[in-house]
Amino acid sequence: MNQTPYDHLPYRCQPIEWTAPERLALASRLHGGPAPDLRQYRVLELGCGDGSNLLPMAYYRPQSEFYGIDSAATQIDLAQHRQTQLKQDNIRFFPLDFCQADDHLEGKFDFIIVHGVFSWVPDSVRDALFVLCQKRLTDNGLLYLNYNTKPGWNIRGMVRDYLLAHTGKTGTLQQRALQAQHTASKMAQLLSQPQASEAHPFSTLLANEFRFVCENHYSYVAHEFLAEHNKAYWRSEFMALAEHYGLYPIADADYNYPSGKVDAALPQQLLSQALTGPSLEDSVDLISYRQLHTPILSKQQAAHPSMETSSLIDLHVASCLQPVQPHWYQHPNGYQVEVKNAQLAIALEHLFRLWPASAPIATILDQSQSIMEDLLLLHNNGLVELRLPEASRLPPDSAQLNPLNQQELQWGGYFTTASHQRVTADLHSATAGHA
Ligand SMILES: C[S@@+](CC[C@H](N)C(=O)[O-])C[C@H]1O[C@@H](n2cnc3c(N)ncnc32)[C@H](O)[C@@H]1O
Repeated sequence: MNQTPYDHLPYRCQPIEWTAPERLALASRLHGGPAPDLRQYRVLELGCGDGSNLLPMAYYRPQSEFYGIDSAATQIDLAQHRQTQLKQDNIRFFPLDFCQADDHLEGKFDFIIVHGVFSWVPDSVRDALFVLCQKRLTDNGLLYLNYNTKPGWNIRGMVRDYLLAHTGKTGTLQQRALQAQHTASKMAQLLSQPQASEAHPFSTLLANEFRFVCENHYSYVAHEFLAEHNKAYWRSEFMALAEHYGLYPIADADYNYPSGKVDAALPQQLLSQALTGPSLEDSVDLISYRQLHTPILSKQQAAHPSMETSSLIDLHVASCLQPVQPHWYQHPNGYQVEVKNAQLAIALEHLFRLWPASAPIATILDQSQSIMEDLLLLHNNGLVELRLPEASRLPPDSAQLNPLNQQELQWGGYFTTASHQRVTADLHSATAGHA
């Protein structure tokens, strides 16, 4: 294989929480999409990098099969080395270009994950990706991929253009990335001086973007800001492309994380004031300053793309909301919420004692519309976890660090839980012994 920029400077990959099969399947279920079988499944990750997303997924799901493909042999070597250390035999990594991958694969996949790839490849590879996914996805399967989104990303694109020009073409990619960070730091400082921010409201936005460059790892800066290809798409443009390949969006995988939250009233407000323009989705993205989308796609159109409380009936719920005073509950992230409904309040206190285990919704709450709406609201704001019953097959979190966790801590200063949450070493040591 030819050397790629990712061989010259490996990308520091991380587990992406919302790509866990159980989370993708839950998002699909809540938005009326298909329901892959969660007892045993096959997962393909395209552009798996050093395996940081796939290794923990496979570790906790020994009954399922995992395949990772990446054209950077250096990244695949790292992934295989870590796999050998962990003696994991339900995962296979291939050093392959997407355009040649099909000949080396057998069968179909219930989940296909493509994170950090779509916007960063030429159009010919992007189209080959769609063809491969359409061919290899089961009829009930879920494809996840993310892409840089217009118009929010245009601001980041301007910073990219500036940094690309400023770092020139000489030096290694790492040297250029470090130079870009140095420049960005000076720009952020300049834009944050009081007289600069008074000069133009745009300065604050731009200062945040330059700060974003400084705060990230240089390998991210290299492959996001200095990459040869980086293309943002309007949502309508992306959806038309996907549909051309027979793939239909169900929902964003991060719909209940801060990055993906949309004000539920916004589409209606735009509609009622005739402000949708040619595409409601694009207008919502314009007003929300959306920079990234994380769609889950399938071969079938979703039965009801908006959430319905009737989808909650068979689900489980878990909550770490701590009662702090009558009717008030606090999430570990510090956010406090008032819950007025007495039955829901009693259920939350019960769930807090059970955490991190879950309980079937039907055993702790009646299914009245108002309670289900409140529960959905808490879930959509990331305050309680809804879970598919099959997710309870995952091993429970333990206070003991397992061999995967030990490897991850040494590798990147974090570890991954069975539900695919990334816990950083500092957070772990701060909470250890406080269970
Ligand atoms: C930005 S990294 C993302 C890695 C990982 N998915 C993550 O998000 O942490 C993009 C990955 O896609 C791989 N890649 C890019 N073009 C490719 C191609 N044509 N065939 C196979 N892999 C490719 C790169 O080698 C790199 O590891």
